[in-house]
Amino acid sequence: MIEIFKPFMGQAEIKAIGEVIRSGWIGLGPKTAEFENKFAKFCGVQYAIGVNSATSALDLAMRLLKIGHGDEVIVPTMTFVSTAHVVAYNLATPIFADIDPITMNIDFKDVLRKVSKRTKAIIPVHYSGRPVDMDQLKEIAVDIPLVEDCAHATGARYKEKSVGGLGNIGCFSFHAVKNLAMGDGGALTVNNEEWMERAKRLRWLGIDKGTWDRTEVDKSYWWQYFVDEIGLKCHMNDLQAAIGLVQLKKLSSMNNRRRKIVNLYFEGLKDIQEIELPLHDDEIFKSAWHIFHIKCLKRNDLSEFLREKGINTVYHQRKSRLLV
Ligand SMILES: Cc1ncc(COP(=O)(O)O)c(C=O)c1O
Repeated sequence: MIEIFKPFMGQAEIKAIGEVIRSGWIGLGPKTAEFENKFAKFCGVQYAIGVNSATSALDLAMRLLKIGHGDEVIVPTMTFVSTAHVVAYNLATPIFADIDPITMNIDFKDVLRKVSKRTKAIIPVHYSGRPVDMDQLKEIAVDIPLVEDCAHATGARYKEKSVGGLGNIGCFSFHAVKNLAMGDGGALTVNNEEWMERAKRLRWLGIDKGTWDRTEVDKSYWWQYFVDEIGLKCHMNDLQAAIGLVQLKKLSSMNNRRRKIVNLYFEGLKDIQEIELPLHDDEIFKSAWHIFHIKCLKRNDLSEFLREKGINTVYHQRKSRLLV
């Protein structure tokens, strides 16, 4: 069976986990800090904050922007539910903007129609790994903060720059089937020291010093910590980070392998009239190709036909409303 997603892991990841277990420190600690530094460098941003999922990263992004009751956040209709849920978690209202049928990313004309006085953020999703045209979105958004949902797009580049540093906050997923996989995991990327510090507190129940910092880094009053606001329990741990460090090293070659497979698909499928192929990435929009999506009329029949041939597929469909 050709699966849709298959994690690409081997001996290096097993060795890395073994080292962390033998070190005696498997929680939030030095490996997470190392991953954060390397991932921030990779994205060309000042700070990365390791969390347990992109859902948590998006939730923390809403909190950093102080989004709450009465506020609106514009999200695309084509995405995973997390993008809208995090808005509702914070008692705000997700406002759906349609997608552009060609790029499959958020439709700028619909964003313009949906912007109101209550709009406190826009969450563009780099759907399937293809970067949103962030320069154009910034022109429309003016001073509305942009939170990039990069769950599909680790390694994608827009005008030579990595996603995650193109808006105000970037949110990544390292879930089991993502381009960079840790089982579960995520990160926020920011260029703002105050936000970085607040996000690090918020991911650990609002506590101002993590256990590692108290025992190993800051030895003075090691037992003392303060909780000034209510946070979540959603930090990354060193087992996840150890896998992530290996995956980060392999990311370019894994994404290149995706590109080679995608080129085979384009070549093999180009003459089939009944299906519409995705936009092919170019130098400006360098996709991470998390998903190769096609459009067709007889979706269920095609899916069954392919399954009989040993090829698994899934379908994505636009959402038009959410009950909150
Ligand atoms: C577009 C998008 N955003 C957010 C998420 C949430 O990621 P996670 O599973 O790491 O919470 C996903 C997961 O598939 C996703 O596809």
